[in-house]
Amino acid sequence: MSAPSRLRAAILIISETANKDPTTDKGIAALQEVFSRIAGDRWDANETRIVPDNAHDIQSSIKGWCDGTDPINLIATSGGTGFAQKDVTPEPSLMLGIRHAMLSTSLKVTPFAMMARPVAGVRNKTLIVTLPGSPKGAKENLEAILPQLAHACQQAAGADSRSLHVGGTQQLEREAGLKAQSTVQDTSKHQHHHHSHNRSHGHGHSGHTGPKAHTKPEDRSVSNDPNAGPTQRYRESPYPMLAVEEALKLIAEHTPDPTILRSAVNESIVGCVLAEDVTARESVPAFRASIVDGYAIVASNHPLVPSTKGLFPVTGISHAQAGEVAKLGTGEVARITTGAPLPPGATAVVMVEDTVLRSMTEDGKEEDEIEILTDAIKEGENVREVGSDVRAGDVVMRKGEGMTAVGGEFGLLASVGTQEISVYKQPVVGVLSTGDEIIPHDRSGDLKLGEVRDTNRPTLLTAVRGSGFEAVDLGIASDKPGALETALRDALRTVDIVITSGGVSMGELDLLKPTIERSLGGTIHFGRVSMKPGKPTTFATVPVKPNDSSDRKRKAIFSLPGNPASAVVTYQLFVLPALQKMAGFSPPWGLPKVKVVLEHEVRMDPKRAEYHRAVVEAKEDGLLYATSTGFQRSSRIGSFKGANALLCLPPRPGTLARGEKVDALLMGKIISAL
Ligand SMILES: *[C@@H]1O[C@H](CO)[C@@H](O)[C@H](O)[C@H]1NC(C)=O
Ligand SMILES: *[C@@H]1O[C@H](CO)[C@@H](O)[C@H](O)[C@H]1NC(C)=O
Ligand SMILES: *[C@@H]1O[C@H](CO)[C@@H](O)[C@H](O)[C@H]1NC(C)=O
Ligand SMILES: *[C@@H]1O[C@H](CO)[C@@H](O)[C@H](O)[C@H]1NC(C)=O
Ligand SMILES: *[C@@H]1O[C@H](CO)[C@@H](O)[C@H](O)[C@H]1NC(C)=O
Repeated sequence: MSAPSRLRAAILIISETANKDPTTDKGIAALQEVFSRIAGDRWDANETRIVPDNAHDIQSSIKGWCDGTDPINLIATSGGTGFAQKDVTPEPSLMLGIRHAMLSTSLKVTPFAMMARPVAGVRNKTLIVTLPGSPKGAKENLEAILPQLAHACQQAAGADSRSLHVGGTQQLEREAGLKAQSTVQDTSKHQHHHHSHNRSHGHGHSGHTGPKAHTKPEDRSVSNDPNAGPTQRYRESPYPMLAVEEALKLIAEHTPDPTILRSAVNESIVGCVLAEDVTARESVPAFRASIVDGYAIVASNHPLVPSTKGLFPVTGISHAQAGEVAKLGTGEVARITTGAPLPPGATAVVMVEDTVLRSMTEDGKEEDEIEILTDAIKEGENVREVGSDVRAGDVVMRKGEGMTAVGGEFGLLASVGTQEISVYKQPVVGVLSTGDEIIPHDRSGDLKLGEVRDTNRPTLLTAVRGSGFEAVDLGIASDKPGALETALRDALRTVDIVITSGGVSMGELDLLKPTIERSLGGTIHFGRVSMKPGKPTTFATVPVKPNDSSDRKRKAIFSLPGNPASAVVTYQLFVLPALQKMAGFSPPWGLPKVKVVLEHEVRMDPKRAEYHRAVVEAKEDGLLYATSTGFQRSSRIGSFKGANALLCLPPRPGTLARGEKVDALLMGKIISAL
């Protein structure tokens, strides 16, 4: 094919700032420099424009350049927010090499460059590439792709595409002077290889070995590019396979720390953990109180004070009610009930059993005189002193202690007059299902081919609430590009942790990881765990800018497997500890672990740790016994019915015999056969 001698490029800078003050723009100069340095003999890049970041200005510039009788060959845009797709037709076959080169280059420069989302497309006869907004990023991307652009532009302009495609990506790469060492035919494998090679830098292992567990997030491989089509996806998950313990360590490390809030002492603090020591505001009891029904008396061990034995006039009454009580003099008694305040001057209480009634008032309704039968009453007898339970100023609860639903803690705070406390804010969990095949579980009518009722969302909502946390139903996000991103962005504004299920395998429509990494700028801390069930469990954190302050916070996203049983196991194993950390619980986090005796033989998985659903029962010998709930295939939610525990089976060939003891994680109440 013969190329026209000169190709024409336009540079479109999309920036509010530069549009207002073009002297602030450095992008045009940077890109023109690349054109003239790398391919000055082929390109004129003197068409430039700076527009604000709005669809109208961007579109009219692009149309002006594309839609005339003499369309420009290439438009390179820099900045903007991913606009032009609807005016531009993506050309997957044409763009493979270009995207590949851009992605590779970005990765070399900075792991966050993935967020720049290089996009290429064609409108009429013009090729359009979108470059990052930063002059440096735009320049580096353009440097990587420019050698290939002449061919791509000719193809777009109607050159013989067949001849261009003969060599496919490899030819494009050879012509671009990229990689010579690889002879891998499959472009997706090549991409993987390419990344690993450069990821390995500084970590002392070759890019040809398998992934290792302890890579830093910025060194890790990244998700598939959903725009790249199935030929570009990874054939094998690029995420290292972690042991459960390693995954838990990453969760403990990256789950956001708890935040503190002041709360009234009311029912809403049940389940919260204290973020401060609580001291008693008041003494308990707050007044000297009788612990029996009887008579308040002035008793003393002093020899000059008369004996308490003998006849006494009943001069007053003290009931257990608020109000003034008359002073008691020596030689007088006052009738008193249990819990009632002692009259001023009284020093002890004599039980009613130690007295007899001697005379009544004239109307016969009141006691007039009683006889006390003993002189052995000592000062302070039958009196609960002020602060004898709790003294004002005593620490009654410590930071880190939880307010259980059993009631003891709430009762204690209530008793000492605590009005307000600092607690850790309880995380709110959003549960989202993903996938076009998923329909609400309660949709009436028969299923169409391929439709699946959404079991995971109601199951997970129940599990979250069952662990004592607030759960929000986020509905179902479709597989359409952008739908998941929107759903996650909205969710992250309102909830603290998002759980999604579905969309974590290697499928073509698996959008979750790319959305987290490429669209939300998040970090995937792990994407695979060596366990059964639950292998594709994914944990990520995403920076979120809250409405009220300018500080970005990180929020956690858990993607649980699409199988309901796997979703519940991985919720209990991985999400619960994260919720507990956020809620201020002290480690160790997670479900309580106990030893149980197997009621029957259990086969282990030779390679993966298995979490086997079981029923645990307490028997008369004081031991806990476990029975499997049956066939444990991960899609079988029925294997969870009745289960109150997960047996922790080690990754080993063979079986565990009946009578052997294994660890079990308790999810529900233990059944008692007693
Ligand atoms: C761009 O350069 C070409 C020749 O190199 C020239 O014909 C054309 O007028 C220039 N356009 C602008 C806008 O300067
Ligand atoms: C192609 O260019 C023509 C004008 O030449 C314009 O009317 C049309 O909208 C363009 N088509 C696309 C898909 O951009
Ligand atoms: C990987 O990066 C290094 C330097 O960052 C570079 O020299 C090397 O060519 C790159 N390898 C590939 C396959 O791109
Ligand atoms: C408890 O008090 C808080 C204020 O700290 C209030 O927002 C909440 O509604 C109260 N809850 C109940 C159950 O009264
Ligand atoms: C934050 O703002 C968005 C709209 O910008 C709104 O939908 C959301 O409810 C707000 N969140 C909070 C916590 O105020």
